[in-house]
Amino acid sequence: MQPSITSLKKEQYKGLLSDNNTVCTLELTVTTGFEEVACQECREKLEVEPSCHLGRIVFDIEIDKVPEALKLRSVENIYVIVLVEENFPFSSEREDCFEKMYKLAGTPDWKKGIKVWQLVFGVEDSDIFEGEEELEGSYCTPKPEIDLKKMKKEKCIIANLPQKNGNTVSTEKSTNTKKIISETQRVGKGPKFRVTCERVGSIHVFGSSEAARQFGGGINEKFGWPVDLKHHTLEVDLNIVENFVYVGLRLTMEPLFKRNVTQFGPTTLKSTICYNMVKLAKPQPGDIVIDPMCGGCSLPIEGALTHTQCFYLGGDIVEVATSRSRMNIDNLVEKEKSLSADTIRWDTTALPLRDQVADVIICDLPFGKRMGSKIDNRVLYFKSLVELARVTRLNTGRAVLLTYDKKSISKSLFRVSSLWKNFSTRNINIGGLIAGVYLLQRTGLFSDSKLTEELKLKGKKRKLSTDE
Ligand SMILES: C[S@@+](CC[C@H](N)C(=O)[O-])C[C@H]1O[C@@H](n2cnc3c(N)ncnc32)[C@H](O)[C@@H]1O
Repeated sequence: MQPSITSLKKEQYKGLLSDNNTVCTLELTVTTGFEEVACQECREKLEVEPSCHLGRIVFDIEIDKVPEALKLRSVENIYVIVLVEENFPFSSEREDCFEKMYKLAGTPDWKKGIKVWQLVFGVEDSDIFEGEEELEGSYCTPKPEIDLKKMKKEKCIIANLPQKNGNTVSTEKSTNTKKIISETQRVGKGPKFRVTCERVGSIHVFGSSEAARQFGGGINEKFGWPVDLKHHTLEVDLNIVENFVYVGLRLTMEPLFKRNVTQFGPTTLKSTICYNMVKLAKPQPGDIVIDPMCGGCSLPIEGALTHTQCFYLGGDIVEVATSRSRMNIDNLVEKEKSLSADTIRWDTTALPLRDQVADVIICDLPFGKRMGSKIDNRVLYFKSLVELARVTRLNTGRAVLLTYDKKSISKSLFRVSSLWKNFSTRNINIGGLIAGVYLLQRTGLFSDSKLTEELKLKGKKRKLSTDE
């Protein structure tokens, strides 16, 4: 498991020095579990030296090379970091925290961040900082009645909620002693922006939306950039992990996994995950790569677009899936993308392929809740692994399999260990659910008579029960 982002040491990054005008520091998000695959892609394509953190990678890069980073295939979102505070002095007083977060808006290296943002989005305005002023207020009007409604209130927040006053929640305690900026915004030149706050920690007496409101209020007060939650062009990410605070400007308006596929199914895999799986399989020029249960063909398509010297074949038992695959492939071909990929309807437990034809198997297996059932999976996984062993090259053949149903795959892999060696397993986090990615190597044994007998017996039993 990778260390948390809080292990990042800001003095190690040239890009975080404001007197360095040519280098910036990027933060890239990646599916947890695939961090080193993403680091490897960055090393190969950008010649940078990334540091790996849980779900994130960070590196310095020449500013004029940043658009190249947008072409990476393994990562989901990219931010240019404009501030890192390793030990932010949060206190147990809400007003004090508001004031500190509001004032924090004066600290980031906005000039460098905006330069990178302009380069990526092709914004040429030269008057973005024209309205810059000193931050005058202490903090802006808190709106706990709006902000705290949106979130789960942790103990620490509940214990520090402002007093109720009649039916409404009052503003903070010392409104008369501090200068609070009212709701009216400064409206100056510059990008429409919004602040999004991601917060983890048990020490905070405020909510994420409250932090975003204060930090955003500070930015508006300082530069006059208009706040626009819906139609913003600049997204500022305020990240708070306990007392580690960092701020990034988002360089990807849409996450990078939204690509390739136009026809989505119930279990379409993110293209970024597809890329990471393909990369783990290390396809070599001339390899035949098969996805035996391909759904809409997202894995073969990502492979064909990135490791172009191989041939990819995706099959599925369901006709809607193969026609979805067909449309996804044709759509890319129409856009003049050359694609060595095809699709076919088949049953993975009885493939219409000759022995040892495949070099690589990549597959996102049906896993139960959304597709298949756990009992079916055990039978399907076992039968598929035996059949896939038949069509995969001895010794050099390999497979990368993904499933949430880790029990079924572990049991099946144990049973077929004479045919497949499971040499590495990693857990990945997909939307909060932990799936397993299994790397298998084909052994030198062509077939295992014990397994063939088991399959025959299963077939007979099934026939008997259907006859009955
Ligand atoms: C998790 S989905 C794959 C999703 C795919 N990776 C995508 O992004 O669209 C699993 C697929 O396995 C297929 N499947 C289930 N049993 C099969 C079998 N015996 N032979 C071939 N395909 C099968 C299902 O129809 C389903 O499309």
